[in-house]
Amino acid sequence: MKFYLAPMEGITGHIYRRHFNELYKGVDKYFTPFIATNQTFKLKNREKREIDPKINEGMVVVPQLLTNNAQQFIWYAKEIKKLGYNEINLNVGCPSGTVVSKHKGSGMLIDLEQFDNFLETIYSELANDLFISIKTRLGIENFDDLEKLIEIYNKYPMNELIVHPRTRMDFYKNIPNYNAFKEVCEKSNKNIGYNGDIKISDDINKIITDFKDYNVDSIMIGRGFLTNPMLVENYLSNKPDTNIDCDRLKEFVAKLFEDYVRDYTACSDAINRMKELWFYILEPFSDYNEVKKYAKKIKKAKDKDVYETTVNNLIVTLKNITL
Ligand SMILES: Cc1cc2nc3c(=O)[nH]c(=O)nc-3n(C[C@H](O)[C@H](O)[C@H](O)COP(=O)(O)O)c2cc1C
Repeated sequence: MKFYLAPMEGITGHIYRRHFNELYKGVDKYFTPFIATNQTFKLKNREKREIDPKINEGMVVVPQLLTNNAQQFIWYAKEIKKLGYNEINLNVGCPSGTVVSKHKGSGMLIDLEQFDNFLETIYSELANDLFISIKTRLGIENFDDLEKLIEIYNKYPMNELIVHPRTRMDFYKNIPNYNAFKEVCEKSNKNIGYNGDIKISDDINKIITDFKDYNVDSIMIGRGFLTNPMLVENYLSNKPDTNIDCDRLKEFVAKLFEDYVRDYTACSDAINRMKELWFYILEPFSDYNEVKKYAKKIKKAKDKDVYETTVNNLIVTLKNITL
């Protein structure tokens, strides 16, 4: 089984990926948060940094594109290939209203004929030069068109199909639909990746066991890694999910913060970025009053010193907790 870090806009950018890769084991591929194409046919500086091969050295990184415009996809894909990448991922999952209303992200599933034409154009232009993988939800409001969708995907030479078995209307609520995922496994001729709500080693075991008869060869993890960057490392070394290396966590969050401070003009932006991550990291400790106290302090922190002192105290507290 291969393990992938899911793309998460605003969180798993190049700084997060680099430090994660330095400190934690087990990720085979890192997907960038989406790059939205536009008619200027120009990569923004921020996007160039995101996929700069030097910054991403030592990792297998797959840039992800969000678009419904085939010509834009082709142009961006060719630019990205020039940098040395051999795989591009297409986002067919984003559920946000502004994205879906433009028939992008999971909104591509609104009109399957239009989507099929889009795929026909990009694969016929690029398939000889590049792998184009797809990360997809399985419907808009329900799974009624699933069979048609699988037939469409089966026509194109994608190296893998990563499936988040929710509809657009689910957003991140409800539970991933195993029956819909099973239908993909049964009817698809692709290598399948599973994505959605993998939080502990048993979740990994369940996917491996329940779908052992199918072509499921990768598991993509998003929020599970944010909460516990040791998730796959623990799984691979048969250690319990509760095995949390606080010294490594301290180093990880310190390195992230240092680089965010350098990257953003305002320190408050770096703090806000860390606040989002702490929300996930502290999830397993939500029953501990002392942790809650520090979580509140982090949430309120506006300056660097207060943030750093709070984090240092928090880590000492975490070290004394046995989950
Ligand atoms: C804050 C946030 C940002 C996300 N950004 C992206 C993105 O840029 N591209 C994408 O394909 N999915 C994105 N996703 C979806 C995740 O990649 C993933 O499919 C989803 O969180 C389910 O997996 P998980 O339960 O392992 O987190 C995002 C999700 C969240 C919560």
